[in-house]
Amino acid sequence: MAYYRINGGKPLEGQVTISGAKNAALAIIPAAILAGQPCVLENLPLIEDVQVLARILRTMGAEVELNDNGCMRIDPTKINNFDVTFDMVSKLRASYYLLGAMLGRYGHTALLLPGGCHIGNRPIDFHIKGMRALGATVEIKNGIVYAKADELHGAEIYLDMASVGATINIMLAACRADGMTVIANAAKEPHVVDVANFLNMMGASIKGAGTDVIRIRGRKELHGCNYAIIPDQIEAGTFMIAAVATKGNVVINNIIPTHLEAISAKLMECGAHITEGDDGSEFYLQVQGGDRLRAVNIKTLPYPGFPTDLQQPIMALLTMSKGNSYIVENIFEDRFNHVPELIRMGASINVNGRTAIIEGVDRLYGASVQATDLRAGAALVIAALSAEGTSIIRNIHFIDRGYENIEQKLRALGADIERVEED
Ligand code: EPZ
Repeated sequence: MAYYRINGGKPLEGQVTISGAKNAALAIIPAAILAGQPCVLENLPLIEDVQVLARILRTMGAEVELNDNGCMRIDPTKINNFDVTFDMVSKLRASYYLLGAMLGRYGHTALLLPGGCHIGNRPIDFHIKGMRALGATVEIKNGIVYAKADELHGAEIYLDMASVGATINIMLAACRADGMTVIANAAKEPHVVDVANFLNMMGASIKGAGTDVIRIRGRKELHGCNYAIIPDQIEAGTFMIAAVATKGNVVINNIIPTHLEAISAKLMECGAHITEGDDGSEFYLQVQGGDRLRAVNIKTLPYPGFPTDLQQPIMALLTMSKGNSYIVENIFEDRFNHVPELIRMGASINVNGRTAIIEGVDRLYGASVQATDLRAGAALVIAALSAEGTSIIRNIHFIDRGYENIEQKLRALGADIERVEED
């Protein structure tokens, strides 16, 4: 197992380029199954979850080539294994997209229940409700979802919560259903829009993605296409927070400013200076941290609210701000597992249900800590970069799942970070 050794206290300075969006990639790769021809995807992040998803599709019989530039060619016409019940499936949450894609393309599948970060119960009842509304029979037995539909038909589906996964999964199956499907209370995240744009490039007819109501008119056939995915909103936010936490000055390239409005607003409320620019081809943000930052209050909400995936990273910053900050985690019921590790580094945090009260301290101190999930790992990296002294962060395989070359990107910004392979 590998760990990070980080010597903290150095401001991050320089430029970083953001990779493709993990949560768009993990939906668009399975979505390619719906096409009757090969698809070429560009700007995919070279992260563990993308590699696992590629291996799953290959095991199903698809031809999948992924090069070092994040370009993937998928030929789904060779799929000959419709039961996706091998262990790899339970390594990631996004494997649930195979349910909508396989139902939409073949009308049946058997799928091992998904895995993913331990940040709450994470049921898939909204997904199953949606598939049943489209005419599928869905049963769960021995940890496997059995789904079958002689014919999928359009339906009106209201989501109890604006679930990202359920919105996308229903869109995938509805693309090839007979008639019109309406998803009400749909998630509006940037990657929901990216998946809809990809499907429309394949010949689907999806309108309203990015709003509360998405309309999908089913098509008998979908064709292949070439598509480049959007930059990663959460990776960009993570680097913005790290720049501010280390009192640095970082230019963040390859971003979409509207996707970052919630995090930019919060960081400026803290006292950071953020300016937006474009070099004629792509947008960038210049992010500068100040001296002791002000405490702020945060409520995580579906997009365009403050993203739950940045709750853990920004908490690392708020441990060193002046005054008390309150964070309410409204999306997941168990997303504070990074708190005990931050406390080891000298933070003062009290958790009460879904609310964390952070009392700002002058500084954090290096310590030996361990990541408990992907974004907890990012929070600990930010804390270690800002702390006085040396930190060891274990379980960094969680970080490898969602951040492409994070240590190389941080080292290029002046961070003293080293990956150590334990024998
Ligand atoms: C996606 O998870 C992302 N994962 C998460 O990113 C992200 O935090 C989340 O959306 C919210 O933005 C991927 O895209 C692979 P939800 P997902 O369905 O689809 C409940 C990261 O760090 N719910 O929007 O699981 C659920 O328990 C990861 O990159 C049900 O009750 O999120 C949660 O409380 C972590 N039943 C809430 O809805 C369901 O059927 C929102 O979940 C589905 C969800």
